[in-house]
Amino acid sequence: MDTSLKNKKVLITAGPTREYIDPVRFISNESSGKMGYAIAEALHQMGADVILVSGPVFITSTFPKDRIKNVLTGKEMYLECKKYFDSIDIAVFCAAVADYAPKVTSNIKIKKIESETILELQKNIDIAFEFGIVKKIKQKSIGFALETNNIHENAINKLEKKNFDLVVLNSPNKNEGFGYNTNKITIIDADLSVHVFPIKEKKEVALDIINFIEKTYQEALPE
Ligand code: PMT
Repeated sequence: MDTSLKNKKVLITAGPTREYIDPVRFISNESSGKMGYAIAEALHQMGADVILVSGPVFITSTFPKDRIKNVLTGKEMYLECKKYFDSIDIAVFCAAVADYAPKVTSNIKIKKIESETILELQKNIDIAFEFGIVKKIKQKSIGFALETNNIHENAINKLEKKNFDLVVLNSPNKNEGFGYNTNKITIIDADLSVHVFPIKEKKEVALDIINFIEKTYQEALPE
């Protein structure tokens, strides 16, 4: 396939993170990794140079294993991305990173007690936000926004706050978002133009996102 994304260096985050309470319990979410892996597979097939930083997922994939960097926590995901961010052309932040993590992770399994207990949480590192601060003009950053209400307003807030060049809005509705093989997306670009797509297989959604990136940034991306 002839594409201007051939040989472009792309960093993709995918899947959930796990924020450990103790060795056997953690806070996480239902991300399966399907959306992020579909983007990684499609870009790899087009000849892009892709690194996939992945939370724990249980899916089969044709994406080369030696290009996958497996991590568990949000902090690990950030540190792994940090190794590559400086040299990449495009970042796609598709992972569902836990916004909060336990303030303390116990080294031993916490015993059940007969009363209520309180789990203290602290804000987790916001990976996309951190790289939004250091992003260079030639680098393009694609974010996702998973929203249930005020969807456009919330997605635009993320676009602006995290310095994304475009944001892919989706929802956790049935057959969309988490876990399903299908998704329904709306792409909002830097001019705040809204592009609505019909529900499709995630593999086709991945191609829609890639085509949009290619069309929008063909001239901006370095040769
Ligand atoms: O994995 P699947 O089951 O296929 O589901 C796909 C998906 C629903 C997980 C995916 O399409 C998606 O929407 N991913 C982003 C989910 C999310 O966490 O959205 P958010 O609105 O909370 O985060 C906004 C953006 O900031 C995202 O690009 C996210 O990757 C990034 N982020 C968020 C928090 C954080 N601490 N670090 C981040 O980098």
